[in-house]
Amino acid sequence: MDRKKIVAGNWKMNMTMEQSNSLIAELKSISTNDVEIKIAPSFTNLHHAVSLVDSCEIEVIAQNVHFEERGAYTGEVSTEMLISVGINSVIIGHSERRKYFNESDNILSKKVKTAIENNLNVIFCIGEELSERENNNHFNVIKDQISIGLFGLDNQQINNVVIAYEPVWAIGTGKTANLAQIQEMHNFIRNLVRDKFDNNISENIRILYGGSVKPSNAQEIFSLKDVDGGLIGGASLNFTDFKTIVLSANG
Ligand code: PGA
Repeated sequence: MDRKKIVAGNWKMNMTMEQSNSLIAELKSISTNDVEIKIAPSFTNLHHAVSLVDSCEIEVIAQNVHFEERGAYTGEVSTEMLISVGINSVIIGHSERRKYFNESDNILSKKVKTAIENNLNVIFCIGEELSERENNNHFNVIKDQISIGLFGLDNQQINNVVIAYEPVWAIGTGKTANLAQIQEMHNFIRNLVRDKFDNNISENIRILYGGSVKPSNAQEIFSLKDVDGGLIGGASLNFTDFKTIVLSANG
């Protein structure tokens, strides 16, 4: 199955407008037809970032969205607002949202539903804590996160979802899951999708790995059978590192 790889940079709460502008100017020099490049700046930089990438291959995506379509939710941003500034995709369920903002599986399932029903594509993040892996509970955790978050979608809607497996203990820690752990979990996720939907959907869905991906390990991770690219945090803030990671996904 030929799934086009994705390399997505999650900038988190980093980058002023000036810093964002100059990183985008550098990123536009990356040339590849084989990889979908995405960047997720903060809300304040989205509109301008969309105008800067303009006709190049980079897609600007959002880091979060609210589950209600509009109303009295001070400080929140809706699907309609994102679409109105040219955004077509959003990250939902990042472990930092789960942990620091108490986003439960049920809240995330509402976010996924609202986003998909309003024509946004979703990168849905899942991942276990270290203690859950140490207690050999990681497969159950992933199964619950994915079932609650995604399995309310129908066979059409699931095609607009990319899954990102990000073991929490590997995010921002410099500690990457080993290759066997990554392939094993990605294969488990693909099988869950097959059991719930169908073989065709499971063969086509893209499953990204995230958690301390860097220039030195990107190529071996991206070459695993069920890995279709990466969600990159820290290393996406540095042009040279991000470029090397993108090119590691090539071919
Ligand atoms: P990291 O973050 O690459 O800095 O580990 C990954 C992520 O949070 O998506």
